[in-house]
Amino acid sequence: MAATAKPLLSDLVSGANHVPPNYVRPENDRPNLDEVHSFDASIPVIDLNGLHGPHRPDIINQIGLACQNYGFFQVKNHGIEEDVINKMMSVGREFFHLPESERLKSYSEDPFKTTRLCTSFNVRTEKVSSWRDYLRLHCHPLEDYMREWPSNPPSFKEDAAEYCKNVRGLAVRLLEAISESLGLERDYINRVLGSHGQHMAINYYPPCPQPKLTYGLPPHADPNVITLLLQDDVPGLQVLKDGKWVSVQPIPNTFIVNIGDQIQVISNDRYESVLHRAIVNSDKERISIPTFYCPSYDAIIGPAQNLIDDDHPAHYKSFTYREYYEKFWNRGLRTQTCLDMFKA
Ligand code: OGA
Ligand code: NI
Repeated sequence: MAATAKPLLSDLVSGANHVPPNYVRPENDRPNLDEVHSFDASIPVIDLNGLHGPHRPDIINQIGLACQNYGFFQVKNHGIEEDVINKMMSVGREFFHLPESERLKSYSEDPFKTTRLCTSFNVRTEKVSSWRDYLRLHCHPLEDYMREWPSNPPSFKEDAAEYCKNVRGLAVRLLEAISESLGLERDYINRVLGSHGQHMAINYYPPCPQPKLTYGLPPHADPNVITLLLQDDVPGLQVLKDGKWVSVQPIPNTFIVNIGDQIQVISNDRYESVLHRAIVNSDKERISIPTFYCPSYDAIIGPAQNLIDDDHPAHYKSFTYREYYEKFWNRGLRTQTCLDMFKA
């Protein structure tokens, strides 16, 4: 495998003082970092304390407004213990600090492999590379996938499994809240997702000598249902809001939640799957750990019947998540979302 493997970024660039040519974006496709807005409370922070008590209607209202106006929000008091989060972040970082030969055991360029280490986004379809290595894991049902996960660092499987179970619980609670915020039955979205799917990435962005020339991840929308992102204390995530890029400052022990393409379809465009991107910096490595909560491949996704009427005809046809996911990975990471291919 190593013979055909593209070198991982972390090893390719250590000590380099310039970005190799295949990472340099054309001039009209660069981050323009001088134009980025960073203001406090850019993305709403929602306190989930009381979600299952008398404050539920108020919290659901806040979630609905955030989904409508931003497609993004952050959650605190989400019920996941700090220790579970810290262990996941540490073991993810340790993994990327292992020698290359050890990490390459998981290397694969096949996007449909359920456990794989790779670099950039999709080395098979892209022209310009991105400044990122990543380990991607399928994680639901856990028993089906855990044995494929790295066994080094030794606590990887245990720490990541504990994290996945907790994040899955949070995702299900948030999907209940999002269903209610759309006026749907509480379990509507969770029912539509079939037997559910859960993928996780550990993104590793090494320091970059010329951050203005490249991306950690170029602008994209997430293809799944909702994403719950954990990030370390190094900023890098930016969200498109009213045509401007806004950076999301890390807050310890919060998750950043964003609406993915499947909620845009289910909500018949009431909620939008918003473009976001990751930029890199010259000083510090950055780790982010998104959980991509998704339907199972056989689940049939389409606009909710209750959100279709004469004034709001169905904007999308129905499709299986397998069809959607295959389209997503075969077309490369483009600004224009994959949703256009499923319009009614
Ligand atoms: C992603 C993503 C953002 C980040 O992996 O889909 O948007 O901050 N990551 O790493
Ligand atoms: Ni994303």
